[in-house]
Amino acid sequence: MTLTADERPESDRRTMLTGAIGELQVATALRQTIVIPTFNERDNIETLLRRLVSALPESDTEIVFVDDSTDDTPDVIRRAALTCPIPITVHHRERGTGGLGGAVVEGMRLARGAWIVVLDADLQHPPEIVPDLIAAGLRDGADLVVGTRYTGGGSTGGLTGGYRRLVSGGATLATKVIFRNSLLQVSDPMSGLFAVRASSLEAEQLRPLGYKVLLELVVRNRPGRIVEVPYTFQQRHAGESKSTLAEGVRFLKHLAILRVGAERTRMLAFALIGVSGLVPNQLTLWFLTHVAGVHYLPAAVVANLIAVGWNFALTDTLLYRARRHGSLAGRMTRFFVMGNADLLLRIPLLALLVDGAHVGVLAANLITLLISFTARFLLLDRVLYRTRPNA
Ligand code: GDD
Ligand code: MN
Repeated sequence: MTLTADERPESDRRTMLTGAIGELQVATALRQTIVIPTFNERDNIETLLRRLVSALPESDTEIVFVDDSTDDTPDVIRRAALTCPIPITVHHRERGTGGLGGAVVEGMRLARGAWIVVLDADLQHPPEIVPDLIAAGLRDGADLVVGTRYTGGGSTGGLTGGYRRLVSGGATLATKVIFRNSLLQVSDPMSGLFAVRASSLEAEQLRPLGYKVLLELVVRNRPGRIVEVPYTFQQRHAGESKSTLAEGVRFLKHLAILRVGAERTRMLAFALIGVSGLVPNQLTLWFLTHVAGVHYLPAAVVANLIAVGWNFALTDTLLYRARRHGSLAGRMTRFFVMGNADLLLRIPLLALLVDGAHVGVLAANLITLLISFTARFLLLDRVLYRTRPNA
């Protein structure tokens, strides 16, 4: 929900009521929009606004909160807005699409300032740094100014606990390696504190997933000049962090999609799931032949069924959950037909290896799986998805 003109503080109401032309002038005159994503930050709002107000010129600034809270944070902000000299917009989202990243991109779309500054609400990013970010951008003619914890006086001070430091450092290093070229000028690609020149921003291109909006911005928008301003990451003021293990998994997915594209990421995940199917396959075969004394050929068929079931469960829940069509029974049938068709090739081959060449059952099974995997890949790659000349 966005505040209507009447709910705005006096100073803002005047500009809002001057009509379309007046607003256009406001839009070009504003120097900066501070975009602040909030998720249950009610106890940080007052201090945050007080420090922003003393750091920034009120006439040139607006603050846009994009809020996905489940508590009364938006009400706390609205109340504070009534007396805050800087005009404030609260955009509350019921569904919180895209999490933190989605919120930041929505805030960028609402922003009217020449510079858009993204700042956390929990005061881990000192608000006093905002003018420095913009001054650095103007001085160096940059499109993007990144607040960094890693160079010239910057510090991860408030990153408490060895575990968090390790995860944060590891993720930063991996990201720097994977996106070497895009990140030459960025020492802290994980930073949630940055300022971007509005004219260089192409918000429609951004498909943020979770926390790493800056990375998304650098890789997809390819801003011209990037400069960094060091700062010390503070302790969280009140409340608790929202980054979780699930957020970490989202981050890995985000890295893969940004690097190789969404489709190849799915293919990679599909291959990984396929490889993981080797475990139930071999285990079942071992149990049936070595413990239960079943003949290896029917045992291999059963092992394959179990492995295809395993692959189906993972593919259907993890990979294509959002794209399911038809009933569970229908999806399962199609998957099983496809997944067991290779038995036509593998069973005779298995018999040949075990009875003819006296290879052990488990080793022979593995060999046939690898041959089948390669054959299916070649079929896909050379026939089904062959590259056509000049296409
Ligand atoms: N609207 C919205 N929706 N805001 C969110 C959401 C969400 O789903 N999740 C978190 N936020 C807000 C929080 O309220 C806070 O203002 C800010 O985003 C950062 O969230 P924290 O939970 O405090 O994150 P952090 O301290 O673990 O991580 C921060 O610092 C890292 C290192 O600089 C973030 O800025 C990361 O992006 C950054 O990498
Ligand atoms: Mn935080």
